[in-house]
This record gives sequence, C-alpha cells and structure tokens, in this order.
Amino acid sequence: MNIDWKNLPFGYMPTDYNVRCYFRNGQWGELEITSDEYIPVHMAATGLHYGQESFEGMKAYMGKDGKIRLFRWQENARRMQRSATGIKLAVVPEELFHRAITTAVRLNKRFIPPYGTGAALYIRPLLFGTGAEVGVKPAREYLFLVFVTPVGPYFKEGFKPVEMLVCHDFDRAAPLGTGHIKVGGNYAASLVSLEKGHEKGYASVIYLDAMEKKYIDECGPANFFGIKGNTYITPDSHTILPSITNMSLQELALHLGMKVEKRPVPLEEIGEFDEVGACGTAAVITSIRRIVDEQNGKSYEYCRDGNPGPISVKLYQKLTAIQYGDEPDPFGWIEIVD
Ligand code: PLP
Ligand code: COI
Repeated sequence: MNIDWKNLPFGYMPTDYNVRCYFRNGQWGELEITSDEYIPVHMAATGLHYGQESFEGMKAYMGKDGKIRLFRWQENARRMQRSATGIKLAVVPEELFHRAITTAVRLNKRFIPPYGTGAALYIRPLLFGTGAEVGVKPAREYLFLVFVTPVGPYFKEGFKPVEMLVCHDFDRAAPLGTGHIKVGGNYAASLVSLEKGHEKGYASVIYLDAMEKKYIDECGPANFFGIKGNTYITPDSHTILPSITNMSLQELALHLGMKVEKRPVPLEEIGEFDEVGACGTAAVITSIRRIVDEQNGKSYEYCRDGNPGPISVKLYQKLTAIQYGDEPDPFGWIEIVD
C-alpha cells in the first residue's frame, strides 16, 4: 500500500470493507460485512426519489501510542437519530451505530493515517429509504451503511486561512425546513451557490438566515465562529446544523477561561471580529482571512500576517491534542477502539 498520507485530499479512496444493516419488517437485521463498493437498490427507492436520506461524518484518529480514538461518536449517533425523526427514516439505535462504526474502523485499520501526518480516517454513516414507493411517503425498508476513507484537510489550503463569499442569493435550508438535521437535500440545495463561490476563487460561501438575510448562518459544510477579545461567538439559528466540533470548541473556550456567546450574529458584526473561522469534523478549524460581501462591495480582512489568529490556533491545538491523544481528555469525549 503506497499512500502519501501527508498529502491526502478530502476525497474518497477505496478501503477493504464496509458494513451494512437492513431494516425490514419493522426491525433491524444483522450487521453485514462486505468489500462491495456498490449497493443494489430498487429503482423506486424513496432515498433516490424523495431524498429520504441522512448521513453523518466523524473521524478515527491514530495516536502516538498506537491507539485508535473516536471523538464524541454518541453525538453523531444522536444527531442521526434526530435526522431520522425529521424525515421519517427508521431510527438507528445507538448500540447498532456504535457496532457499525467500530467494526468498519477495525476492519480497515491499515487505512488509518499514521500519527503525525495530520490526516485521519473519515467515517461516513449513511441511512436511506431503500423500499419502493411511488406516492410521497416514508419507505418501509432502509439501509444503514458505514464506509470509511482516509482524508486530509477539507479545504485544500490546509491550515492556511481561506477566503469566503457572503451568499445573498441562495438558501441551503428554509426557516422551518431541514437545516438543523443532516439530510442530503440540504447539500443538494447548496451545490449551485458553493460552485459559484468556488468559480470566483472562494473556499466556501457564508449562508445568511433564510428569513431576513440579516444574520450569519454557516459556512458551507461548517459552522461559523468569531473571536472578539476574550469571547467566542457563534450563531444561533434553526437553519444551522448543530456542529459537534463547534459544541466542543465552546466547551474548550470556557475551559480556557474565555466567554462564549451563542446568539444571532448580524452580518454587520463581521467587521468587529478579531478572528473568524469555520469549524466542523472535515474543516476542523479553518481560519478565514477575508470575507467578501459583493452586495455592499465590502471586504473584511483578518489574519493580516497570513496566519490564523492566536485564539484560533490555541483552540485548534487543544481540540486536536485531545482527538489524537496528545493530551488527557478531561471531558470524556474520547473512546479508544480496541
Ligand atoms: N454544518 C454543516 C452543514 C455540516 O455538514 C457539518 C458537517 O457535519 C458541520 C456544520 C460540522 O458539524 P460537525 O462538527 O458535527 O462535523
Ligand atoms: C463533516 O464535517 O464531517 C461533513 O460531513 C462535512 C461535509 C463533507 C459534508
């Protein structure tokens, strides 16, 4: 196996096995292990026609001590349950979720990037309606699948600060829609605006609240945070996906003696932050060096020396030190996979 661990993109690479479990006749079946990368699926599956689909994203980290660590997987399991309830999918019990992710990680151990490469094994649980329906209704059959793939940084810049564009002309989710859960439709709805941003050279776009277009929601597939003095500020909105990374950064900020504010963040406030960034499993912490708002012709600059700001660096180091096991985990966030 000849993998350039240090230069891995955030992309799909085949691994040895994936695990699957079908929900039929009102119950979950046995966990199946396969090397097949394809899924035989009925042409009338609700997942294909009506977007009855949810996914999750987390990582397994290889420590200096050779131990494999999972980070707050229970939160991903619960979020997938909320997603399932939100679009009427069969709910995956926490125990099944845990068994599936740990099985997938163990069976693909040789694909976990070595300690020190900055890479990790991305774990992608997927749940969708496989049952055939033609009317708009929930399926009676579901597939829960977990694959893993080694990944590097989400934004190709790595830890280098990126530029983002404020998005005024698209919403990824409606005010009372599905933005707060992790369902495929939200991502389909984001593609045109993300591609527009990419074509103009931005790493991502920043969505605004769908109702008034006054407040910051999130940054493509990551939450937004700003640092003002000793305060960590992050938007509160029903259309944002509650990020487990963001939740953890808020706890870390408090632990480091900072203040935390989770509240609506008006767009006008972006000029007042000392540091701004995007956070998520894939993005970890990605600092933003410039935010451009084409509507008012303004551009907001951060990281003037070209590097992430000191508080972003501190939070990044603290979070990743816990995830890779370099520092003790006082929060009980880590589970070691034997
Ligand atoms: N926001 C969106 C829309 C996402 O897709 C993700 C990724 O899961 C996040 C934020 C970050 O969430 P987490 O930190 O739980 O990975
Ligand atoms: C993640 O941060 O884990 C994500 O799922 C983001 C994206 C790849 C959808």
